[in-house]
Amino acid sequence: MTFARLASLLVLSAALASSPASAETQLKVFLSSQGQPAVWRKAMDQFEASHPDIKVTIELGGATSDVQAQYLNTVMSAKDPSLDVLILDVIRPAQFAAAGWLAPFPGKDLHAYLRPYAEANSVDGKVVALPAFADAMFLYYRKDLLDKYGIAPPKTWDELATAAQKVTDGEHNPSLQGLSFQGKAIEGAVCTFLLPYWSQGKTMAEDGKLTFDRDAATKALALWKSLVDKGVAKKNISEVATDDTRKEFQAGNVVFAVNWGYAWALAQGVGSPVAGKVAVARLPAVAGGEQSTCLGGWEWGVSAYSKHQEEARALAEYLSSPDVSKFMAINGSLLPTYPALYSDSEVTKAAPWFAEAIPVVQTARARPATPRYNEVSEVIRTTVNAVLAGASTPADGATQIESRLKRILR
Ligand code: GLC
Repeated sequence: MTFARLASLLVLSAALASSPASAETQLKVFLSSQGQPAVWRKAMDQFEASHPDIKVTIELGGATSDVQAQYLNTVMSAKDPSLDVLILDVIRPAQFAAAGWLAPFPGKDLHAYLRPYAEANSVDGKVVALPAFADAMFLYYRKDLLDKYGIAPPKTWDELATAAQKVTDGEHNPSLQGLSFQGKAIEGAVCTFLLPYWSQGKTMAEDGKLTFDRDAATKALALWKSLVDKGVAKKNISEVATDDTRKEFQAGNVVFAVNWGYAWALAQGVGSPVAGKVAVARLPAVAGGEQSTCLGGWEWGVSAYSKHQEEARALAEYLSSPDVSKFMAINGSLLPTYPALYSDSEVTKAAPWFAEAIPVVQTARARPATPRYNEVSEVIRTTVNAVLAGASTPADGATQIESRLKRILR
């Protein structure tokens, strides 16, 4: 290289170093593909507009919570600094904090948020993440079809089976399924199992100790299997993940669906074949049991390995603010993390059922909070899947879950 060329390169690099572009902080946010990423992008655009020296890029995680967790486990175990802010399923802060992967929010007060999220994000007296959105499982149904057949939203799974059969018999549409739920071996299948299990008044774990009831577990697994055997749910339900349920319901091929909050904005959105025909209710109970649901939700964590701690914290605080929670509720039907927003008129205009959703979220049950949650999840979701695929009986499945969980939650 000639001296002249070297000199010009040096001038060029000095110019680049002093240009405004290089003074910018680049933040990378890890986001779930199932939680309205396009709407979050708009919230991040607003943040960029008020922080001209920060640019935010998004890395989209895999389709399900468990796939995302696997990826994050790899990145975080390697102490990789490339991700600054992470969206985490509500079941993960305990594990991530125990691993030392989250930078805490010193002095942050979580009282303004719904209590389950204040609890999930406080680990050993530290605030380790901030609520992104609330969630719970609900029963979505085709209001037009229930009205047509004079059926009220079912309160038990038996009522649901009868209602589904009445509608599908009457419609003579071979592609219409009575019920869609998640039977694939994904994180959501843990909740599939827990819905009828909890409905029998049982708990899984208390104070980190296993409180498993094998008979109730057998009944829970048998309930789902019987819905498949009766033809209420389709035969290959063991291949159905959350967004499959959402898509099939949205396409008009499902009467009842078990799903989370995000499905509303999409089913009711412009161009959806079922827009205006959808309603949401509490999930049914097992006969004689209580209606119960699974607490979901997502949290914003700052990676302990981020090289931009201060900016990353500012972004997480912003994304967890009341304004953004309201924006996401209206535009993405993500349930708010602040109680007052459930009765905000702009929010209830966009999602009228939110007004009744707050007690559901407040009484939703949490999956066991343990640093070993990944193992707990694996045991349950693979067993649910095996029973639905016909590879295991409900009784054997329940025995399997019990003996494997005994080794994890002692
Ligand atoms: C939803 C919930 C989350 C849950 C997941 C399972 O995204 O918010 O908590 O684990 O669904 O599929």
